[in-house]
Amino acid sequence: MTARLQAASQASEGAVAHPAQETSKRVVLHVEELTGHSLAAARRTLAQRLRRGGVDNPDLDARLLIGHALALDAAALVTQSQRVLAYDEAAAITRLAARRLMREPVSRIIGRKEFWKLSLRLNPQTFVPRPETETVVEAALAAAYPSLSRARTLRVADLGTGSGAVLLAILSELPESFGVGTDINVAALRCARDNAAGFGTRASFVACDYGAALDGPIDLLVSNPPYIAHEEIADLPPEVCSFDPLLALDGGSDGFDGYRAIAADARRLLAPAGVLVVELGFGQAAGVRSLFEAAGLACAPPQYDLCDIPRALVARTLA
Ligand SMILES: C[S@@+](CC[C@H](N)C(=O)[O-])C[C@H]1O[C@@H](n2cnc3c(N)ncnc32)[C@H](O)[C@@H]1O
Repeated sequence: MTARLQAASQASEGAVAHPAQETSKRVVLHVEELTGHSLAAARRTLAQRLRRGGVDNPDLDARLLIGHALALDAAALVTQSQRVLAYDEAAAITRLAARRLMREPVSRIIGRKEFWKLSLRLNPQTFVPRPETETVVEAALAAAYPSLSRARTLRVADLGTGSGAVLLAILSELPESFGVGTDINVAALRCARDNAAGFGTRASFVACDYGAALDGPIDLLVSNPPYIAHEEIADLPPEVCSFDPLLALDGGSDGFDGYRAIAADARRLLAPAGVLVVELGFGQAAGVRSLFEAAGLACAPPQYDLCDIPRALVARTLA
């Protein structure tokens, strides 16, 4: 796998068999191995089995899966660590373990993912929000409010909103602002609407191609578009290429289709002092910058994520 793919941390639903997945299929956990054992012993057994199945964070995943199966939070898992598991409890854990051993991500099994300060619901058609996308939220907030005054009402748009993660994180910080999320995937938009329940009329959603159904002027335009080159998708880790929706990953032959569509519409949509912020895939900063400059936008230097990868690009309309 190329460095780009390792760093990109995005991928697809295109159910392509992956070598690691083939290996993990042979690792199993039987209900008898947990029944009558303590919760602490079950955690150890599950973690060891996940490790053998090639799972990256086996101890954390074992805690999360057992907690979910038994409806226990982290504290209860500790205080009840010597409790002996009944057959039904062991069966519930082994069902979830089987899914994880097939490399389904924990967030998909649990149906939720923490992002920014939000706990977001997921469905099979939503991309799992990634920690590096919080760099886009930070960059957007900083670019829109250089003075740190958050009193002004902004019009925000998130193109390719998925679960609503970026839009809702931004609105959660800007209580006077309104936003719209678009997506071409109607099932993803249903999930975004559920996640936005607490935002009332401040958040709305439209099914369309990027910004096609929107009118300006928009003060803050954000997007984490699909940006994996089509032919690289099958090489992504199984958690990504077998479980994230293909629509959320596939950026066309070079990975730039989404950026091209956004660049073509940005000047029509942006307010005169408006800001565009996009997430960057690994190695894409210079290419996206060229596209945006050709579309009449001025770009700031990219902002880096916690792995020191250029991850967010901020652009403004030229005066
Ligand atoms: C990488 S995911 C990002 C989801 C979410 N913004 C996040 O950061 O977690 C890209 C999203 O763009 C959507 N998408 C793909 N093509 C699109 C298009 N032509 N117009 C609008 N949305 C599109 C996908 O359905 C997916 O929800």
